[in-house]
Amino acid sequence: MKTGLTVETKNLTKRYGNFTAVNHLNLDIKAGESYGFLGPNGAGKTTTLMMLLGILKPTEGEVRISGELVSSDAFNTKGLIGFVPENQSFYEEMSAWEYLMFFAKLYQTERPKERGQEILEHLDLWAWRDVLISGYSNGMKRKLGFARATIHSPDLLVLDEPIAGLDPLGIIQIRELLMAEQERGCTLLISSHILSEVEKTVNRVGIISKGKMVWQDTMENLQQWVTEKQHITITLSSVDNEIIAGFRSLPFVQEVISEGNSLCLVMDQAGDYREDISRFILQKNLILLEMKEEKTTLEEAFVNITENNVQDLTGETER
Ligand SMILES: Nc1ncnc2c1ncn2[C@@H]1O[C@H](COP(=O)(O)OP(=O)(O)OP(=O)(O)O)[C@@H](O)[C@H]1O
Ligand SMILES: [Mg+2]
Repeated sequence: MKTGLTVETKNLTKRYGNFTAVNHLNLDIKAGESYGFLGPNGAGKTTTLMMLLGILKPTEGEVRISGELVSSDAFNTKGLIGFVPENQSFYEEMSAWEYLMFFAKLYQTERPKERGQEILEHLDLWAWRDVLISGYSNGMKRKLGFARATIHSPDLLVLDEPIAGLDPLGIIQIRELLMAEQERGCTLLISSHILSEVEKTVNRVGIISKGKMVWQDTMENLQQWVTEKQHITITLSSVDNEIIAGFRSLPFVQEVISEGNSLCLVMDQAGDYREDISRFILQKNLILLEMKEEKTTLEEAFVNITENNVQDLTGETER
């Protein structure tokens, strides 16, 4: 089994003029870990990954891969890294097989033909190996990009939205290969703007928004946080600040999110609080128009976190 590479950043920052795309980001990814790097469009994911790989120069801060400082010059661990970029370009006039073998040679891969065949077969591209890449569909190119990034069995695999544009079978095939890479000991760093895309593949999650890390914890804790809460939305005939404060003061209510005449009450999962809520509404002479239970999904939790509706979920929030 291999030892995966570690990734560490200290105050990593990228500015474009007055605009800060990545803002004092501290990452600490352990060897062999599978890390989900999440954030909405424009959050700074691609910019961060480009700096990790030495493709883009940081304005401030530093990156270390297994302790070695990454600069835009070639660094020693570069040959041990596989990268699937967001927008990949290919040598279109080559066949997939020529293309893969070209990279296998470049990386001095052991048993390149066996390895190439194994990957292409798994991705359903084996029958297409001699077809020119110019004749490949978008999804097939995406898979080929993955084959190129893993042909040399890297110790760190960096993937920028790896399953975007793939059909359900393609997603499963890539997921299986990612899991096989991790079992081999490879460190995975996977960016995505959809939490459910990486839910099954990653152990730890970092969420960035506007260039800053807003949440970081294990996938298990994130899932637990979602299932530990219950949300009840009530719609009243009118709502004012005093009414909101009243709901906030109830001992079983942890948080109140208001939108017009609707209030979303966030509570722990331990009890059924509908009666208590009804009693409070009667006591205050409020007119209830609707009450419904909302199930929070992981995706909603993610949106909440990135929009900063929820602050400091675990005490681990970095700002
Ligand atoms: N060369 C550049 N010049 C100016 N601004 C840039 C440049 N590259 C990126 N940005 C800005 O930096 C921010 C972060 O961009 P980035 O591509 O890193 O986001 P992302 O998280 O990868 O988003 P997506 O999910 O859409 O791929 C965006 O607001 C973008 O407009
Ligand atoms: Mg991006």
